[in-house]
Amino acid sequence: MTTTRFQSQNQTGALTDAPKVHVVTFGCQMNKYDSMLAEGRFIAKGYSTTASMDEADVVLFNTCSVRDHAEERTYSWLGEIKREKERRPGLVIGVMGCMAQRVEEEVFRRAGHVDLVVGTREFQRLPELVAEVRERRLDPNLSGKHERRILATDGAVEVEVDRSDETWTGGSHAFLAVMRGCDLSCTYCIVPATRGRVKSRPIESLVQEARWLVEQGVQVITLLGQTVNSYGEDFPAPADGEEQFRGRQGRPSLADLLHELQQVEGLARIRLITLHPAYVTRELAEAIRDCGKVDRFLPLPAQAGSDPILKAMKRGYTLDLYRRRIELLRSIVPDIELGSDWIVGFPGESEEDFAGSEAFLEEIGFVVNYIFKYDPRPTTRSAESLSDDIPEEVKKERNRRLLDLSARVGLRRTSSYVGREVQAFLESRSDRREGTLLGRTIHGLPVSVAAGDEWLGRLSTVLIKEATAFGMSGELRG
Ligand code: SAH
Ligand code: SF4
Ligand code: F3S
Repeated sequence: MTTTRFQSQNQTGALTDAPKVHVVTFGCQMNKYDSMLAEGRFIAKGYSTTASMDEADVVLFNTCSVRDHAEERTYSWLGEIKREKERRPGLVIGVMGCMAQRVEEEVFRRAGHVDLVVGTREFQRLPELVAEVRERRLDPNLSGKHERRILATDGAVEVEVDRSDETWTGGSHAFLAVMRGCDLSCTYCIVPATRGRVKSRPIESLVQEARWLVEQGVQVITLLGQTVNSYGEDFPAPADGEEQFRGRQGRPSLADLLHELQQVEGLARIRLITLHPAYVTRELAEAIRDCGKVDRFLPLPAQAGSDPILKAMKRGYTLDLYRRRIELLRSIVPDIELGSDWIVGFPGESEEDFAGSEAFLEEIGFVVNYIFKYDPRPTTRSAESLSDDIPEEVKKERNRRLLDLSARVGLRRTSSYVGREVQAFLESRSDRREGTLLGRTIHGLPVSVAAGDEWLGRLSTVLIKEATAFGMSGELRG
């Protein structure tokens, strides 16, 4: 959970007594980006943002549905804020994001003090919807609580982004969603239901936002998508005579976007989250090789190391196919580092299947791993057709074993850099150690280095001295 980084300031930076909005964000980076977009819309309408829930006039929860725990946490926060609403009836409470899209008016049933439920596509209308809530409260003809509430969960609305009237206060790193939604149908996953079909944003509009971010002081941009490397697959094929791109049938692809962003002056680093093996192409690998600003790190979730489980998950690849994609990538970018997500305790996962996940993690040498215990999500194929038959203790045990292995493999990967000079982008000061800067190597790995502030925001050379499972430290070499 993160709260937002905007200050209680208006667009010119002055302190104001404008209405204040506070956003609480759960879930993935896409939600963080959407919270920023929502805040930007409020700021453009004369609001300020506040880090304090107590002084907010509008409190929004940007929610996640990927596991039950994420939804329950939201309800527990909503329970907390109920007392605040009793004390301050003027407070407007909104729920946005994936859970809002998934359960719609169910939120009102479980949390009667919520005024607004806004899905994953309509959140940029929030300031208008909040105004509408306020108007309805004053309308003597609307006596019932339910008549004053607003539900805005149209899944067909296109999310268009124009931030030119915003002032960026988010620091040197920014997220940028290049596509939304997912056209795959992994049997365990709720995301296609909450985020809908794939919709890629046009290249020009993305480059424009990237330029705007850079003008506002951003140096590092992380490109987001549920399957970010399927970017552009939903664009129509160009007609004869139209500009042809590298992507399939001449459509723009992630490779084209990377080449465009590589040209943006002042942009120092480009990162990617999250890729799917099915869309790993030669063009993409070549773009990573040729675009020096792109980190040589790819989160490319394998999810499992057993063909029968991958099939039951409907991931769309076998281990062999995954291996072949990695061979292709490594033949073009030999030093690429990889990360993965894993689900343990998927229905029917035998000890042998699980041992396959351990072996595959080891074999590929994933340096960063996120491990999740299988959670049957309502309406998903696996929840409806397979019994959640792996006991919780076994899931926990497998989770722990994979985490331990991940730490060992991570350390093996980071140790391989000890004694070598690496390129690293230094991004922030360490809170814990004075005179130390933190950054990431061009292989996406956290690094700390003793250096003065003049090195902030610079690509530098670091001699790696020490490694842990989660990062490295070294000496500045220039
Ligand atoms: N689009 C990304 C992942 C999105 S969800 C991809 O395809 O890889 C983030 C992670 O949550 C997934 O990679 C998966 O490991 C985990 N996850 C999703 N649904 C889950 C479920 N029902 N139970 C446990 N983990 C789940
Ligand atoms: Fe979910 Fe699969 Fe789509 Fe990822 S690729 S968002 S896991 S359906
Ligand atoms: Fe959660 Fe939605 Fe992201 S379900 S993981 S917030 S796409």
